[in-house]
Amino acid sequence: MGKLIIDGIETEAAPSKTVLEVARELGIKIPTLCSHPSLPPYGSCRICVVEAIWKGRSKLHTACTFPAWEGEIRTDSEPVRRLRRNILELMLAEAPEAEDIRALAREFGVEQTRFPVREEKENKKCIMCGLCVRVCQDVVGFAAIGFENRGYRREIAAPFREPSDACTACGACSFVCPTGAIDRRLFAKVEPKPIPSEFDQGTTSRPCIYTPFPQAVPNKPVIDTRNCVYFKNGNCQVCAKVCVPRAVDYEQQDEVLEEEVGAIVVATGFDLFDMKTYGSYGLHRHPDVMSGLDFERLLSASGPTKGEVRRPSDGKVPKRVIFVKCAGSRDAEQGMPYCSKVCCMYSAKHAILYKHRVPDGEALVFYIDVRTAGKDFEEFYKRATDEGVNYVRGKVSKVFRRGDKMVVWGSDTISGRKLEVEADLVVLATAMVPDRSALELARMLKIQHNAHGFFTEAHPKLRPVETATAGFYLAGAAQGPKDIPETVAQASAAASKVLELFSRKELTHDPNVAAVDEDLCSGCGICVDVCPYKARELIERKDGKGWVIKVTEVLCEGCGACSAACPVGACQQANLKDKQIEQMARAGLQD
Ligand code: FES
Repeated sequence: MGKLIIDGIETEAAPSKTVLEVARELGIKIPTLCSHPSLPPYGSCRICVVEAIWKGRSKLHTACTFPAWEGEIRTDSEPVRRLRRNILELMLAEAPEAEDIRALAREFGVEQTRFPVREEKENKKCIMCGLCVRVCQDVVGFAAIGFENRGYRREIAAPFREPSDACTACGACSFVCPTGAIDRRLFAKVEPKPIPSEFDQGTTSRPCIYTPFPQAVPNKPVIDTRNCVYFKNGNCQVCAKVCVPRAVDYEQQDEVLEEEVGAIVVATGFDLFDMKTYGSYGLHRHPDVMSGLDFERLLSASGPTKGEVRRPSDGKVPKRVIFVKCAGSRDAEQGMPYCSKVCCMYSAKHAILYKHRVPDGEALVFYIDVRTAGKDFEEFYKRATDEGVNYVRGKVSKVFRRGDKMVVWGSDTISGRKLEVEADLVVLATAMVPDRSALELARMLKIQHNAHGFFTEAHPKLRPVETATAGFYLAGAAQGPKDIPETVAQASAAASKVLELFSRKELTHDPNVAAVDEDLCSGCGICVDVCPYKARELIERKDGKGWVIKVTEVLCEGCGACSAACPVGACQQANLKDKQIEQMARAGLQD
């Protein structure tokens, strides 16, 4: 194989690749417009032109189609730059409103075009590279757009210039268009429906193949099969084509894996309270009323606005933000009766960060109490007030829109006055509730939970990370609302408990398990149904005359459900028989 020299860098000739591909591997930049990894090169825009010198003869070729034969390639010689300038002038005449083309032209010193601008052309951003037509036809398989007319009057359009049924508004054409020239409304009868990003709380959209969130474990992309074109019509497969390690496998199926484990740590996390009982707060009805989690994404550098605080309705910087705490918490009538514990601190954090991003903005926090029980929490709250965050003790009754402002009705419970405050944005510190999968899991694992669905620990003070069922532990908001440090501490404790369990040579079991008096047992089987730990079974009596209950002692947790349910008193708990309990009670009362 011969030698190929690109801009003075020597490499092996590789005719199966193009000059563009080899140049990219060598880190040499060649401008491209009509080249996209999902399609074979076509060479229509010609901006990737390079000078090929072979046997003393020089010729200009498009790098995206020219094979990497031996010889010399110059990607930035004067003839190359001259031709690129001419091409850019032609493009400026074709697409004078394409900002990307203007920027590229400026890079090559072209400010004006000498050619007449196509005034009658409708789309003044389109350079007619045809990438959109090819992706629609060859990749997605819809052929919903094409070239119209010939020569000087050529344009991209839907057939008969009518939005077509063939177009599903999948967005492939806009995705590949190098100049942002595509207006899908001209092609599609259906409204483009962006797929809301779950991680960004629906404030941005995501593609059909995506990594759920930056810290996802495993940090690998997943395919949304409900929206992916391949799963709809068998076409596209762009992601597989561009994936260099060939890791995209459309045949992969969800699998149920069976593992044998010695312990389980339940960490199901939390959901946000569904605010539909608080219709007067307007969450999800007014774009400028959002939950604390939405605001968290808005403040994040990886969020929809790259960390700039802009309100969703019109993208303006909000000059007054009202934070409403206990939205759904501590309200037994409409919401949840418990305190969500984290809202005081995250509202303070949000208010401080908002003031940092918008120094002339005003942050107003409506609160019932400020609960700062945690290391340095009180100091943090003090910092918020010192940095100009205003706190109003009172409850909010209504949030509504007036003009381009949100209006908050509330009361100042210190002065006893009614308040009406206008704001640009309202942020609700929505209550935490158990994850919606928690109850089903609790039933499956036979772990107790409280009335709200949070898992219950074996003992609130002495065994806060264990459950009543041996080998099952709790971590995080599965057990109740908690913040990150507390969650981390509890998760570490749960992990230590597991290690402690695994390091024992022998396992011990509480001796207070249930026993059956076989003489009394009628074999009715009621206790089998009530036992939450599946520790009982009906077996045939030794003499073959009827049935009797057998207890698997190692499974029994001594909950007493069988004793309570047994109609003849045959089920009793070892060391806690009815008579023993009665005697203990008597002795206690005598004392
Ligand atoms: Fe090579 Fe357009 S990128 S011709």
